[in-house]
Amino acid sequence: MFKALQLNKAEAGFSAAVVELEDAQLPAGDVLARIEHSTLNYKDALAITNKGPVVRAWPMVAGIDGAGTVLESTHPKWKAGDRFVHNGWGLGETRWGLLSGHARLQGDWLVALPAAFTTRQAMAIGTAGYTAMLCVLALEQHGAKPGDGEVLVTGATGGVGSVATAILGRLGYKVVAATGKTSEAAYLQKLGASSVIDRAELAAPGKPLQKERWAAVVDPVGSHTLANASAQTRYGGVVAACGLAQGADFPATVMPFILRGITLAGIDSVMAPLARRQLAWDRLARDLDPALLETITTEISLEQAPARAADLLAGQVRGRLVVTIA
Ligand SMILES: NC(=O)c1ccc[n+]([C@@H]2O[C@H](COP(=O)([O-])OP(=O)(O)OC[C@H]3O[C@@H](n4cnc5c(N)ncnc54)[C@H](OP(=O)(O)O)[C@@H]3O)[C@@H](O)[C@H]2O)c1
Repeated sequence: MFKALQLNKAEAGFSAAVVELEDAQLPAGDVLARIEHSTLNYKDALAITNKGPVVRAWPMVAGIDGAGTVLESTHPKWKAGDRFVHNGWGLGETRWGLLSGHARLQGDWLVALPAAFTTRQAMAIGTAGYTAMLCVLALEQHGAKPGDGEVLVTGATGGVGSVATAILGRLGYKVVAATGKTSEAAYLQKLGASSVIDRAELAAPGKPLQKERWAAVVDPVGSHTLANASAQTRYGGVVAACGLAQGADFPATVMPFILRGITLAGIDSVMAPLARRQLAWDRLARDLDPALLETITTEISLEQAPARAADLLAGQVRGRLVVTIA
């Protein structure tokens, strides 16, 4: 028997509850694994509170993210005792997820856990942190370099924003962190921000072209924030768009693209190919200070997950929530 956070939709309505399950109830897969740590991402919070159309099949075990150890495997690449990290590919959406003591998984989709990380550290990074690294890879791919000038990170005290700030700071970029929690300036500076601005400066409708400031941008916020950040990006700069915390709209014009040659790089973590995932995790092992990871992490239990999911959507969480399962 193991514990899992199960979501259900029945005549009585939606429910999210910790239940006890057996291996025999798990769906098919060529790897049976023990999940030691999971986490709450924005998407998990939407699913667990039923605030967004994340879950496509009921009942669903929640959790788009997990790290653990292989118990049994018929997959050629995996054997009992191997440690892995796993996210996306419909986990917690169309396939039972990893806020669960055990899971049966597809070996083709697992990523070997870098030796540098414990399963707890891997989930302190989680989808949010791995997405932050995908953003940094996109900035580099489009030519961004430390020394180019200021790099804007929006949603900076959130999961993506905290990890992006820590990576870019360590790589030597001059990070400007935009946040609604200006009382957290010391936290953001500890992570690696050179300065902190109030997100209100970016949140309202703005002009199509504004004073050039950012050499590059990491944006998990979307909407007017993304439009203003793009309008303030310097000639030839790059903006990595990965989220919608303010909104899914993009109320912008083509002006920054056709007059300043800026690049908008879209970031998807869910269906990213295995080689890109492995690269991102290898770079996280190299470019993220483990001591800073501890600074951004709060550990919670499976039972606390529903309440903390509501807090996360209400913007009351700083950094990353790790769920300890084993
Ligand atoms: N593309 C992908 O594959 C991918 C992967 C992971 C996440 N995401 C998306 O990235 C976004 C962030 O995810 P996360 O896990 O980092 O979530 P999170 O921990 O909740 O962080 C989001 C942050 O955005 C800021 N924010 C919240 N509401 C806002 C608003 N109305 N206007 C402006 N800023 C606001 C807050 O930071 P401050 O308080 O510091 O302002 C908040 O902490 C989500 O939209 C998520 O769906 C996408």
